[in-house]
Amino acid sequence: QDLTFMAGQVGKDGYRHYMEKELHEHPVAIGQTLKRITDPASKRITLPPMPFDLAQVPRVTITACGSAYYAGMVGRYWLESLARIPVEIDVASEMRYREPPQPDKGMALLISQSGETADTLGVLRSLKKAGQSIVSVLNVEHSTIGRESDLVLGMDAGPEISVASTKAFTAQLSVLAALAIEFARARGTMDQAHEERLTASLLDLPSRAAEVFTRTKDIQAMAGVVAQARDVLYLGRGICTPIAFEGALKLKEISYIHAEAYAAGELKHGPISLIDQTVPVVAIAPSTILFDKTLSNLQEAKARGGRILVFTDTAGAKRLEGVAEQIVIMPDVDAFVVPILYAIPVQMLAYEVALLKGTDVDQPRNLAKSVTVE
Ligand code: G6P
Repeated sequence: QDLTFMAGQVGKDGYRHYMEKELHEHPVAIGQTLKRITDPASKRITLPPMPFDLAQVPRVTITACGSAYYAGMVGRYWLESLARIPVEIDVASEMRYREPPQPDKGMALLISQSGETADTLGVLRSLKKAGQSIVSVLNVEHSTIGRESDLVLGMDAGPEISVASTKAFTAQLSVLAALAIEFARARGTMDQAHEERLTASLLDLPSRAAEVFTRTKDIQAMAGVVAQARDVLYLGRGICTPIAFEGALKLKEISYIHAEAYAAGELKHGPISLIDQTVPVVAIAPSTILFDKTLSNLQEAKARGGRILVFTDTAGAKRLEGVAEQIVIMPDVDAFVVPILYAIPVQMLAYEVALLKGTDVDQPRNLAKSVTVE
């Protein structure tokens, strides 16, 4: 993918950076991606036919790098909880050399924006040799990974120029959500009414995602705190944990502020020793997912002088009074789509911090859009 050429072709449409433009394209990227794989009339998932029987797959092995890996982590929660299928997951550079035993009729799921990441491609080839069916979730479908896959599940995020991934992430999640529903249907773990409810919550997402931009001022206020810090902790629980990882990665990538993400329950096993007024804690804490547990983790952090910044919803905001210094109140959505929606403000926060720091947002130092060497 020649990004210089694409950058010349794709304008910034009046935005200051490609990243800002691509953040605003989340609703369209999700909407376009869902268009191909859902039927709004029947509220059913309409993925292309799989070249094998999903009901017979004993295990799914997910592999990816960077943000795509965090999308895969969310996919694991969905596949396990909805379709009751065992899932193995690792970053490609590790999976490549781990030699995990592979089951008969197993499925390998590769996730990549570019379809050219060398480590992910390396895993594809070794898992193919090990007899696994290869399914890939790609933005660039006519890529090397695309050509070598048994089935490509395309996203329609459009060209992503900014080195830090944005809209491709929510498009990946949209495909993975649909795949989990498809698996669940095939394995008999989800009835039609349940599928319709979850599909409806996906179809509602583009409008809810557009609403997130009305929270920009609150995100900027949060950025004011984060930009002063040298170190930041991101916390999530359950399916929001990968979103904490995505937030910390994005902050590191474009603002050069050191950030670490943890499953909030791990706080007491180490990172709590870091917390004082100079280390803000950013939490992804919707009231739908393990909220009470996260709240008690945040109270512990607060008691150690931590400045608590939270992404939550209306119900969560009420319970965070007196605990959180800053709150971004997100649109209320079904718990199923929470990780997709909450990825957006978390990426926006990193962008706003980078603006305050004056860094080169679209071309951060030492990073490449597509890493085609090992
Ligand atoms: C690079 C990019 C990241 C991206 C990762 C995986 O490190 O800077 O934004 O998440 O590669 O890329 P892929 O194209 O495989 O999704």
